Amino acid sequence: MAEGTIVNPNPSAAATDQAAPVAPTAPTAADAAATANASSKPGHINLYEPHEWKHGTSVAGVPWKNPVATASGTFQYAAVRWFYDVSQLGAVSTKGCSPVPWLGNPSPRTAEGPASNLNAVGLQNPGVDHYLAHDLPDLKKAGALVVANVAGHCDDDYVQVTEKLADSAADMLEINVSCPNVTHGGMSVGTDPVALASLMDKLRPLTDKPIIVKLTPNVTDITVPARAAVEHGADALSMINTLLGMRIDIRTGRPIIANTTGGVSGPAVLPIGLVAVYRTRTVLPDIPIIGIGGIDSGEKALEYLYAGANAVEVGAAALFDPVAPLRVARELDDLLDARPELAAKLAAGKTWR
Ligand SMILES: Cc1cc2nc3c(=O)[nH]c(=O)nc-3n(C[C@H](O)[C@H](O)[C@H](O)COP(=O)(O)O)c2cc1C
Repeated sequence: MAEGTIVNPNPSAAATDQAAPVAPTAPTAADAAATANASSKPGHINLYEPHEWKHGTSVAGVPWKNPVATASGTFQYAAVRWFYDVSQLGAVSTKGCSPVPWLGNPSPRTAEGPASNLNAVGLQNPGVDHYLAHDLPDLKKAGALVVANVAGHCDDDYVQVTEKLADSAADMLEINVSCPNVTHGGMSVGTDPVALASLMDKLRPLTDKPIIVKLTPNVTDITVPARAAVEHGADALSMINTLLGMRIDIRTGRPIIANTTGGVSGPAVLPIGLVAVYRTRTVLPDIPIIGIGGIDSGEKALEYLYAGANAVEVGAAALFDPVAPLRVARELDDLLDARPELAAKLAAGKTWR
């Protein structure tokens, strides 16, 4: 965490907490004092002083105050609001949401990899009704631009969630057809352009909200499902979700993760995300693309913008540094000062290439 403008009310919490799974602890008196001193919003503690954003972007016609969002599954409002004001982000992509509560996969669900981590959470979430009653209103009240991430085990699941989100306060929908950790739906749709086209034909008529389709890198050529999504109504694409992987416990000879396989994310996947964006931009010059994978600094976000992305999402970096998405946004804002041509293109909803 580099900047001179940091106001850190509770450094020990920043060092020990994990962003996504942590339940908030009761605020201490020091927290309350820090909130009064450092926050622009009641209930938020800001590690950073308020920032005047210099370089915005626009994704499928929706203006973002900066090009950086959280990546789905690595952000939990109840936890991160103790670290920063979430309205400072370009957008917040929330955890995959299913028609009914899902318990996810058995433990262990995570393992470390070289410069990476594996997870097989299995889209655990409390369901769309809970999302509409709690997470979404809380985030909107906090001033966040919300990308609601939609999960399903079959087409009907995706339809039910999209129908319920159609009239909600969500700003954009992100259809997750790329999760490698569920046996039905998820990646099985995103690797089959015919199935993806058929799903999009069902979802597109349900809502006027911008639909982002989130793609998997677990294919030979990501431009094939990308084209199918766009030809069947996607307003934007996001890529990449995690790569299929595993680790073995050499004491037992068995997989570490109970689900056997998991999804690889973190710094190691940066080059894979970049080539996915680069190749997709080459064949689809006009579709908005959100680049994801391995971003933990403004410089890495900038690589995605030069590859042809309109915006980025920060995922695994937030698991060990809860403030990472906001830090990346601030670093990028400064890096764009010296790149006025790129900044002007982004502000106009265009891309570098
Ligand atoms: C613990 C965990 C949970 C995730 N859950 C979701 C999810 O619910 N929906 C989704 O579309 N992607 C999910 N993802 C994928 C991330 O949003 C992101 O696409 C991926 O991790 C690559 O980005 P990164 O290298 O910055 O983490 C999850 C990733 C992690 C690490």
